[in-house]
Amino acid sequence: MSTATNLDTKAVRIIRTEDDHLAHNYHPLPVVVATGEGSWVTDVEGKRYLDLLSAYSALNFGHRHPALVAAATEQLGRLTLTSRAFHNDRLGAFATALAELCGKDLVLPMNTGAEAVETGIKTARAWAYRVKGVPTDAATIIVADGNFHGRTTTIVGFSDDESARDGFGPFTPGFVRVPYGDADAIAAAIDENTAAVLVEPIQGEAGVIIPPEGYLARVRELCTENNVLFIADEIQSGLGRVGTTFACDREGVVPDVYLLGKALGGGILPVSAVVADRDVLGVIHPGEHGSTFGGNPLAAAVGLRVVEMLSSGEFQQRAAALGEHLKTKLDAFLGHGVTEVRVAGLWAGVDIDPAIGTGREIAERLLARGVLVKDTHGQTIRIAPPLVVRATELDWALDQLRVVLEG
Ligand SMILES: Cc1ncc(COP(=O)(O)O)c(C=O)c1O
Repeated sequence: MSTATNLDTKAVRIIRTEDDHLAHNYHPLPVVVATGEGSWVTDVEGKRYLDLLSAYSALNFGHRHPALVAAATEQLGRLTLTSRAFHNDRLGAFATALAELCGKDLVLPMNTGAEAVETGIKTARAWAYRVKGVPTDAATIIVADGNFHGRTTTIVGFSDDESARDGFGPFTPGFVRVPYGDADAIAAAIDENTAAVLVEPIQGEAGVIIPPEGYLARVRELCTENNVLFIADEIQSGLGRVGTTFACDREGVVPDVYLLGKALGGGILPVSAVVADRDVLGVIHPGEHGSTFGGNPLAAAVGLRVVEMLSSGEFQQRAAALGEHLKTKLDAFLGHGVTEVRVAGLWAGVDIDPAIGTGREIAERLLARGVLVKDTHGQTIRIAPPLVVRATELDWALDQLRVVLEG
């Protein structure tokens, strides 16, 4: 099934090649990107687009940020991979800086977000058996309806999205799902075998769903009271996106475990991590967990630069200020083709009135006007520009949205 038209352009030829030889696990918009810089990408025909997706927040610093490219280039000229069979001279500095950013003791580096989530699950289970004293194989983890934590079989097993699960069972037991944003439901679900509560502080894939104020603080209290780990999946919400370093910071909440990914790799390579104190992450012993590429020197060099960039607070401030601007502008669309808007920092879920079109149709119309967004769950489009975007660029993109909504 091709997304291409009958025109025999370079883009169409490339898309046809993909259709012939790529597994169809995605349904991309029909644009073939060739280069990127800052908030902009250029396709193979030379047309420019403002990137309002940022690779699902992996490009928080924009395309090819000079400081990140410099860190990667310098490291490419020295050493790229050792495996963890040996030490490398970059990993310690990265772990130290990341632990400090998180206010925690230890870092366990992996690559993709899903691997960080899997690592968090293994850590919570090992902690439950070895520290809390839960009987063997009885540990449970409480998760939320509408969650998205990645695509491995264990993770999709506790999703409630049928398209993520259907055809992929049997699934890993040990998960209890409760409504998102409902702390009382978590309180009711906790028992003596509960190892952890695993939630996204803001649900990204679900459409930028922001829980009611006080929810995260209450989850924190419940976890403390019941000797349960609070695991915050900040893979999409963290590292500056919402105007603070972590989305948990919005409620002044510190989870026991941070799961990080996406922007940690600076938009250059996959870098993820589990970050926690020694009494939690210290339960993992040599030989119990790892990854050939996790903690490689190239990843560590880029990750260290990412942490250094976040340490100044500049990107968080930009996201907060531009986010206010974005919210004001998007709120003005309510009742004009938009039924609901949810904004946290420079991150928005915009629900499109079905009378105007689906989220996908709006994304296609925006594409034609030089703006890249991604639809989710039918009627929603997600807006997540690089944090380096300028207010004028954002305004221009929202002008395009206005035109599209006006039909
Ligand atoms: C909150 C969250 N967790 C985990 C993941 C999985 O990350 P990855 O695609 O790098 O495996 C994602 C990806 O969108 C995510 O949004």
